[in-house]
Amino acid sequence: MQAVSDSHAYRASLLWFPDPDSDQIHFETDGLLVTTRGADGVARISAIGDHRTLETAHAHLPLTDWRGHWIAPGFVDTHIHYAQTDVIASPADGLLPWLNNYTFPQETRFADPAHASAVAAFFFDELMRHGVTTAHSASVDAFFTQAQGRHLRMISGRVLQDRHSPDGLRDSSATQSLYETEALIARWHGVDRLGYAITPRFAPTSSEAQLRGAGELAAAHPDVWVQSRVAENADEIRWVAKLFPHARSYLGVYEDMGLLRERSVYAHCLHLDANDRDLMAERGAAGAVCPTSNLFLDSGFFDFSLAQSHQLLHALASDVGGGTSFSPFHTMHAAYTVARQSVGQNGRSLSAQHLWWLHTAGAAKALGLSGVTGNLNAGCEADFIVLNPQATPLLSRRIAAADSLQEQQFAMIVLGDDRLVEHVVVDGHVLEVHASHSN
Ligand code: GUN
Repeated sequence: MQAVSDSHAYRASLLWFPDPDSDQIHFETDGLLVTTRGADGVARISAIGDHRTLETAHAHLPLTDWRGHWIAPGFVDTHIHYAQTDVIASPADGLLPWLNNYTFPQETRFADPAHASAVAAFFFDELMRHGVTTAHSASVDAFFTQAQGRHLRMISGRVLQDRHSPDGLRDSSATQSLYETEALIARWHGVDRLGYAITPRFAPTSSEAQLRGAGELAAAHPDVWVQSRVAENADEIRWVAKLFPHARSYLGVYEDMGLLRERSVYAHCLHLDANDRDLMAERGAAGAVCPTSNLFLDSGFFDFSLAQSHQLLHALASDVGGGTSFSPFHTMHAAYTVARQSVGQNGRSLSAQHLWWLHTAGAAKALGLSGVTGNLNAGCEADFIVLNPQATPLLSRRIAAADSLQEQQFAMIVLGDDRLVEHVVVDGHVLEVHASHSN
């Protein structure tokens, strides 16, 4: 990691969202980005714009010249599992067999702190290599310790699951699990750039007492996140209906338990009805859309059109290890494919800028972190990526032939992967993301 002084200027092409609530991109071909470390020790963007306008006022600052490259906001992954790093690419006949045969057995290994710590180190190297600077994940101590050491903005939480789970993964009691959650909130939430998420795995693996207790904690700590899953798979939904016969719907279980509110993030949201979508929108809860996972596990298609018409907050996520890639480019590409296919007559083409927004400023908005991360406006934290449009021969050729910014971005989404990400800047520190990997 290369440290920079209190203020630093970067010259490159710049891509960002001046209005974080809108997917309208501003692209500055010859731009200047300035970062400054505040009294709290966190580096933030202090100026952004065209080089000619800003250069005189910042001529005294150390300058990194990245002309020929694009600086863009670091990607935000709204749902990923560090404990499933080694589950990726495990075939199964759908969600429930995949959980039982691969996922649960791998996750039991995380009782060993040495294993947890080694996987967390690999996981964060991998996130950085792909330009993901903020993520919402499950599992705690090794994760937070690594994230803190790397100055990252990360959200995570201990998984709550006190039934229908194997030995080694199942909580011994709801009371104990909730007591531990409260202690972990006190220990980690708001420490440096870390945030805690109350994390019931999904309704079938929690007793009513555990879900209700999680809801009480969510009410007592409104700035803590809630993360879980909803309406991913047909067998899962039938199971929930049997376990919670009085709930109006699968989502209704979480509503009944007090787990739907702002900063509640629900992965998948594939098989919702109109009432569910309205309820999520009303509560300010967000959907984490996981297209590579949903395609891989044959779970279904997220309906982007209905989400938008019901004003349901949503953003993109990898869902590794159900998801098949750490790469936000692969996730955006899969989201484009899914949006074209989605349920009924609602298929539509998502624009490149909208896809990019859903994985940066829009993802920060879904997490309640607008103006903090996922963007380059003044005041945002200095987490950004440096993309090389010449990274591969094919990408270089396609970009040279593009007629517009949209076409260039679309080429990156379809043809891009970690090779496109040349540097990652986290909290004002430049990471050499390819140095630690020989492959
Ligand atoms: N439902 C319950 N647990 C999981 C998980 O780990 N991944 C996915 N995709 N769905 C789940």
